Amino acid sequence: MKSLTFLLVFVPLLSVCRSQSETGVDEELGDEEHVELFTTATTKLAAATSDFGYNLYRALASQDASSNVLLAPLSVSTVLTQLSMGASETAERQLYRALRYHTLQDPQLHNTLRDLLTSTGTTGKGLSTAARVYLSRRLRVKPEFLRLVEQQFGTAPKQLMGGAKDLKDINDWVSQGTGGKVQRFLTKPFPRNTGVNTVSAAHFKGKWENGFSQSNSLESFQIDGGTTVRVPMMHQDNYPVKMGVDSDLSCTIAQIQMQDSVSIFVFLPNDVSANLTTLEESLTAEFVQDLSMTLLPAEVSLMLPVLSFSSTNELQPLLADLGLSDWLTSPGLEKITAQPVKLGTVNHKVVMEMVAEGNRYASSTSPPSHLALRVDKPFLFLVRDESSGALLLVGRMVNPKNLRI
Ligand SMILES: *[C@@H]1O[C@H](CO)[C@@H](O)[C@H](O)[C@H]1NC(C)=O
Repeated sequence: MKSLTFLLVFVPLLSVCRSQSETGVDEELGDEEHVELFTTATTKLAAATSDFGYNLYRALASQDASSNVLLAPLSVSTVLTQLSMGASETAERQLYRALRYHTLQDPQLHNTLRDLLTSTGTTGKGLSTAARVYLSRRLRVKPEFLRLVEQQFGTAPKQLMGGAKDLKDINDWVSQGTGGKVQRFLTKPFPRNTGVNTVSAAHFKGKWENGFSQSNSLESFQIDGGTTVRVPMMHQDNYPVKMGVDSDLSCTIAQIQMQDSVSIFVFLPNDVSANLTTLEESLTAEFVQDLSMTLLPAEVSLMLPVLSFSSTNELQPLLADLGLSDWLTSPGLEKITAQPVKLGTVNHKVVMEMVAEGNRYASSTSPPSHLALRVDKPFLFLVRDESSGALLLVGRMVNPKNLRI
């Protein structure tokens, strides 16, 4: 009851940002100061790739309303950008639209993306990614394409050899690119006769700015349908967060600081439901940025499930939801090869490790906070790089029982 009273204070603040989110990404906001983060080429690109990420997330999340979801959108943006370097002008335009690049008017787009990848890829932030285009053995590939992509992103697209060796080769490459953390990327070879396949993978292990003194105690987590599971949770009293409630979305939002300007946002709906559609639909880069400006510092008794899990997805069918159905039929990859070629698979795997580890929590002499934040029912989360605003991970946790990497 106490926590409820406390949170009511935030209501007027949050209703402001909700009304802005409905204006959509393409429109100007009335109040410029809320979006001041997205002013440079890099941060504008960060906002664009985040919006692509939210769109992709929605497409994936709506496929199965009752599943856990995890995506690292920046690695998908990267591999599709690599692919766009082999596309005709028309096809590039179609891809840029889906990737949300079309609003940027950035003549140096590829360099800007490289800068963003460099800044979000520093060791302290805990994210490592791997992204590569794989081409069928039968294709007569134009060497210029391989050269351009390698020059720009440091990874040349690779032509397959056919046979079992490819699988090992791809999995080894992904493992190497993610410090050995993303294993068994593919469990079976690419389908036969697919011309182009893309691979994107990410590993995230963030370190808390403030660690948790208690980890892995088994606590109750309510899942949709009225049952409860017992799962490992991290717990800390007097934990500093930024917090607020959104009355329109009927949820509590907490932003928890990690090291090197990374933070995780937790959206905890008031009701126990795996259906987070209303919340999911509101997500845009601007919405999250506006929201972050309205959250207020608070010290809470925080309980958060240990989020160590992986997710593997084939994203190719989702691209149609992002306005790419025409492009999928006729991808115009004429700078890759003169032969007709289509996009086979868009494989994506993410491994996330969110454990108690972090700076040692400074022992406090103050009495335990009365305000509790128990993340103990289905919630949505996102990991954001605060310096650029780039979305690093987005996901939904509906049942944390038996999570596995
Ligand atoms: C989820 O909730 C939304 C909005 O409340 C509703 O329109 C939709 O039908 C629900 N989806 C499922 C699968 O129950």
